[in-house]
Amino acid sequence: MKNNIFPKDFLWGGAIAACQSEGSWNINKGLSVADLAIKYDKTVSRYERKLVTQKKLDNLLKETDTKKFPKRFGIDFYNYFEQDIKMCADMGFKVFRLSIAWTRIFPNGDEMHPNEHGLNFYDKVINSIVQNGMQPLVTINHFDMPVNLVTKYGGWKNRKLIDFYLKFAEVIFNRYHKQVKYWISFNEINGARFNVFYSTGLVKDSSDNHLQDCYQAAHHQFIATALARKKIHEYRNDAMMGCMVAKFTTYPATCKPEDVIEAQENERLDNFYFIDPLIRGKYPSYAKRFWKENNINLNILKGDLQLLEQNPCDYLAFSYYMSSISAANKENLEETEGNLKSTFKNPHLKASEWGWQIDPIGLRYTLNQLYDRYQTPLFIVENGIGAEDDFVNGKIEDDYRIEYLKTHIEQIKEAILDGVELLGYTTWSSIDIISSGTSEMRKRYGFIYVDLNDSGKGTLGRYPKKSYYWYKDLILNNGDNN
Ligand code: BG6
Repeated sequence: MKNNIFPKDFLWGGAIAACQSEGSWNINKGLSVADLAIKYDKTVSRYERKLVTQKKLDNLLKETDTKKFPKRFGIDFYNYFEQDIKMCADMGFKVFRLSIAWTRIFPNGDEMHPNEHGLNFYDKVINSIVQNGMQPLVTINHFDMPVNLVTKYGGWKNRKLIDFYLKFAEVIFNRYHKQVKYWISFNEINGARFNVFYSTGLVKDSSDNHLQDCYQAAHHQFIATALARKKIHEYRNDAMMGCMVAKFTTYPATCKPEDVIEAQENERLDNFYFIDPLIRGKYPSYAKRFWKENNINLNILKGDLQLLEQNPCDYLAFSYYMSSISAANKENLEETEGNLKSTFKNPHLKASEWGWQIDPIGLRYTLNQLYDRYQTPLFIVENGIGAEDDFVNGKIEDDYRIEYLKTHIEQIKEAILDGVELLGYTTWSSIDIISSGTSEMRKRYGFIYVDLNDSGKGTLGRYPKKSYYWYKDLILNNGDNN
């Protein structure tokens, strides 16, 4: 037992995203890319599911059976938010991570004026978070850009997107800067590599060089982040604008130098390529070789690099769910699932029901790796286990969730002892919501069970799980009873 390790003001909490929770997809709101995500069918490969071609997009837009799109309905946070926020506050949350749906504020993304109905909704949500004694941590864009910005402008490869995003960001900064200190510009900005359509709105066959478009889109998101960071600091000096990545931690499968190099290459291209411009203010040295070898010719305007250099993010946020292994020769590796991409099996690790490998020590390793490299405050904004919970007589005995979180928090303690500066920890998720990757409901992450099934049926009743009381006690003791 190690006591008093977490700082007194450590931000304990949980996270959700608008597009997976709110529902009310067509109430004073435009269509978002998340509203086009159909429920995962196991017969369809991951590649197929993620691939959005023009033909597929046209078909999705024509689809009239709204029930095929679970994210349109979420868990009805739109109507239940007061109850949900109160339950999280009762757990002792210090911080509540949420996102603002771009399509509620600018339904098409390119309007002149914001939608007052949407702002009224977030006025109530953010007031409720603050009145319940929590800090809101707001993700400006979480996988739900307006579809109109895809069909009319071609997504983030178009530089105009920076202006639309900034207009949206400025409206919410202006409205909420007094209540919101902590911001994240984009959820998992390395989605430009792994979750292309939902992160950047790029349609695969819309150009001859899709990879070029992905990295151009990422460049535009880096610039948008730097400009947003600059803007929020005009509103409040102490604002904290973070950038966020899905952290893909990988180990060499063996000590063979070829495997070690492969692991290094994966860490670089999956993570650091996206973090460096936003924290160090410059692209890493190996970017040039990567661009050249992949026929990528970025259009970087005069002033872009200077802007990045002058506006590094105030902290680095990341999601951490699992780890993987890397080898030069993949023939003997067994594939398994993971966040945003498939990974390779590590014989020393167990996995979740969805095949994501559980690696608490990897979190300590990751925290140290990121802090050594960037020397900037870190924030774990997603960590948790997706599982099928059994709802028996109004109770959910989710010991596996407690075990997952407990072992990860134990390793966070070690990392803090190692000297890592960590601002907070928001689990994924605070309440059960629709899965991002598969749009399933049965893949649950929350402390609060929502009575809703994969067919969209259920009372929508909210029930605290066993983990709810465990986390409440943990926060009460500032992590010391773990
Ligand atoms: C992260 C996303 O990639 O992982 C979340 O930011 C998502 O939106 C979470 O829900 C867990 O992934 P999934 O696919 O299990 O919901």
